[in-house]
Amino acid sequence: MAEKTPKEEIKLEEAKGRPLLTWIGKRPLSGMVVRPAQPMHIFDPNGELKAEAPRQNWSDWSPHYPTSGLLFFGDNKEALAHLIAKGFRHKVKLIYIDPPFDSGADYVRKVQLRGVKNLLGIEGEGQSLVEQTQYNDIWNNDAYLQFMYDRLLLLKDLLAEDGSIFLHVDEHRGHFLRCLMDEIYLPENFVNEIVWYYSDNFQGNVRGFANNHSTILWYAKGAKYIYNKVLIPLDKPVKRDKRVWSKDEGKLVSARDEDGKLIYEDYEEKKADDVWIIGQTAVTKEQSKEYKGYPTQKPEEVLRRVIESASNPGDLVLDCFVGSGTTVAVAQKLGRRWIGCDLNKGAIQTTSKRLQTIIQKQLEKTNGNGATQNGFDGMEPPKQPPPPAQLSFAVYRINNYDLQIQHNEAIELVCQQIGVTHSKTDSFFDGTLGNKLVKIVPVDHPLTPLDLEAVKRELEARRGEEQRAIVMLCLGAQADAKEWLEHWNKFRGIVKLDEGNQPLEFVNKIEVVDLYGDSKYSGFLAYDPAEAEVKAERQGEKLKITITTFISPTIIKRLKLDANLFQARISDWRSMVNSVELDPDYNGSVFNVVFSDIPEKKNDLIVGVYELPAPAQPTTIAIRITDMLGEEVLKVIENV
Ligand SMILES: C[S@@+](CC[C@H](N)C(=O)[O-])C[C@H]1O[C@@H](n2cnc3c(N)ncnc32)[C@H](O)[C@@H]1O
Repeated sequence: MAEKTPKEEIKLEEAKGRPLLTWIGKRPLSGMVVRPAQPMHIFDPNGELKAEAPRQNWSDWSPHYPTSGLLFFGDNKEALAHLIAKGFRHKVKLIYIDPPFDSGADYVRKVQLRGVKNLLGIEGEGQSLVEQTQYNDIWNNDAYLQFMYDRLLLLKDLLAEDGSIFLHVDEHRGHFLRCLMDEIYLPENFVNEIVWYYSDNFQGNVRGFANNHSTILWYAKGAKYIYNKVLIPLDKPVKRDKRVWSKDEGKLVSARDEDGKLIYEDYEEKKADDVWIIGQTAVTKEQSKEYKGYPTQKPEEVLRRVIESASNPGDLVLDCFVGSGTTVAVAQKLGRRWIGCDLNKGAIQTTSKRLQTIIQKQLEKTNGNGATQNGFDGMEPPKQPPPPAQLSFAVYRINNYDLQIQHNEAIELVCQQIGVTHSKTDSFFDGTLGNKLVKIVPVDHPLTPLDLEAVKRELEARRGEEQRAIVMLCLGAQADAKEWLEHWNKFRGIVKLDEGNQPLEFVNKIEVVDLYGDSKYSGFLAYDPAEAEVKAERQGEKLKITITTFISPTIIKRLKLDANLFQARISDWRSMVNSVELDPDYNGSVFNVVFSDIPEKKNDLIVGVYELPAPAQPTTIAIRITDMLGEEVLKVIENV
């Protein structure tokens, strides 16, 4: 029988701000069941996590986690509840989030094969591109507001007493989110509404003014929040009267010479105000060193101002909509500790690659002591950059979102096959089947009691659905889930009425359709994984690792080419490979990236043949190959 998952829960405080914005189905998140996180890999090129002496300045860190940067792959609602339960409650000094904007767009990341031009013989933009949906940004208004409400409540519980949250919004939902922020963080803790003006969007054909700004709302947790002034260069020096601090008056006053005349000075910098004029990263595309091909990527300079103004070196910075990783990249460059999260695999890979590059550059320049550093290719380096807070990071998966088929795609597929009417307006159930409500269990794990508990909580919170039956679609079911169900269904049949003849107990029968157990459905889940062949041998003091071939049926399918045509057009399999990472001493569970081959330029290929120093004893080598769509193949070679 499957092991029972121990149940851990968190409780949250109620939001107290007034007035209140309301929507259909609004409910405060009062608590959550906490799910475990599984380590995926660590990046520790300097071996700092293996050192025996405890790391300095990390005594406040959660004992459950390595003293490194942390990246979580999964839904941030799960990740935030997990962080609260695992020792990060009130530990975060600065939160910056840039959530989906409810803009009605599907963000698409353009993926190009390496070194391949004009594969399909099409001129211009579309050549040899595979488009991968990054995330779906189409929401029903109410579902979006509830989505943000849940996350903003969880985030508040992570903030330290002198911490701050910066929420990036745009003109679509900004006014609603400001109300939510007042409700949760309280109007008296509002600090600034920052206008980021990017001035480079020419939108020729709009009926109205071109939209050239978005807004960042800054709220502090309490009255004593961290604030550092941020200086920005002026286009040309400005002459102004010199200001000095007057002890008697307790304020800045104009300085005067012996004759009482005002003293003037040339100012080359000014204190940043609440309008930030910074060009968009994506506009300069290929020219911009920091551009990672992520559609909503924010400029590092925006994050520099956020991080410098509201945190100090060594502080913990969190972004749970991390995207291409701008926040954590800048936090790393500015000597802060950081935690990032995203549910998109492409985002986790982009962020991970970006951080690897920065840390490697910091290592080249620090000689281990952090004296000088590099890696500032996006923003201007500060005059005295603080030393890196860490030179390592670890990646965790929450809720096993490592999907071979994206959850959304799977939902579409299941709905079509079974005849489920898919609902985009319900924030919890995925659709209906006749009169029944349908919940699809994420396709990466079998049905567990946790999934059933979630349905139970939802039914309790949502009145008016007392009689409806529920269908749960899943890929396999744990034995303890079946027990849970039996118990539930046995007692659902009884309806008790109170004195006013209102039902006290409800009939919400839950039926489970196990797609794996049913031969009618298992066919459409067939999936062709990518494959690789790798050799490893010892040559004297060295290990030689050679990738001989790699093939991704999904890439070929996405390019809508058949395999023969593909091979004729793409002579080198390496064009399909985004990165290769090596762990020459693999422990069988956590991948420690010791060497990585991630060409920075799109047209450069990975090398494919690697030599590393050989350990004295026979060793297990792990090779992780990630293709241009983000699919990973892990090869393990023992006893080399
Ligand atoms: C606007 S983008 C962030 C871009 C980022 N600021 C940057 O500079 O690259 C929003 C991100 O939130 C992620 N996201 C959306 N819903 C999420 C959820 N429930 N949990 C975690 N990440 C989520 C998306 O995958 C996307 O990467």
